[in-house]
Amino acid sequence: MTGTFYVVGVGPGDPELMTIKAARILDQSAAWLTPSASKDGISTAFTIASGAVRADGKEILTHHFPMKKIYRGEPADLEVQEAWDDATSWILSHLEQGHDVALPTLGDPAIYCTGFYVAETLLARSPMANIEIIPGISAIGATAAAAKTPLCLGDDELVVIPAVFENSKIREVLSQFNAVVFMKVFKSMDRLVPLLEELGLLDTSVLVERTSMADERVHHDLKALVGKELHYFSTLIVRKN
Ligand SMILES: C[S@@+](CC[C@H](N)C(=O)[O-])C[C@H]1O[C@@H](n2cnc3c(N)ncnc32)[C@H](O)[C@@H]1O
Repeated sequence: MTGTFYVVGVGPGDPELMTIKAARILDQSAAWLTPSASKDGISTAFTIASGAVRADGKEILTHHFPMKKIYRGEPADLEVQEAWDDATSWILSHLEQGHDVALPTLGDPAIYCTGFYVAETLLARSPMANIEIIPGISAIGATAAAAKTPLCLGDDELVVIPAVFENSKIREVLSQFNAVVFMKVFKSMDRLVPLLEELGLLDTSVLVERTSMADERVHHDLKALVGKELHYFSTLIVRKN
């Protein structure tokens, strides 16, 4: 087997935020496995990648990865595991022919990224497989840039958590750290806003929807978001200082 499997971070949305290396790897890979969270076959990572690199002439498989909770150290949901297995079979068949495969992924691959589960599944089936991870600009940094705020300065400590945790855990994190980034926050604002208000943190919090995309929205008035439907691509920054 001579092909390489690349997990390529393509940034938060604006193709100009892709790295030169990401663009080069995508350009030179014969096949792309583009992840889709919905069954309609739309892959945001593909939209970003193809905004900077010509996709025609490539073999492209848009693969659906169901969005379900994953607890590390516990077996994944059957449907999720099947999606990783099917993706791995497709990737392996290309690598065995000596072709490189790229999996473009939103933001940075090191942060809540399906590409790493696929890489783990690939390594379990083929321990000698060549795998490369190409970092990208995460929605975390891009959200801070859109809101024109730093994430941490001086002796600040930064923590990143999915907003799906129960309130007691979130309260604990907010008391311990002075800069907190909430990801996967789109369904949690009705619950988080009263908590932030109680802790006196509403005025120093900002939520950005669809960071770096054409319809990016920066929300400082978080109370106005209660009862509203937010886009899945929403990130909340809470800072005490
Ligand atoms: C599965 S995680 C992927 C994170 C990604 N690997 C990264 O580094 O940005 C999905 C979450 O990332 C955040 N996100 C991704 N893209 C975003 C964007 N363009 N604007 C705001 N938040 C975004 C949202 O919190 C979303 O629920």
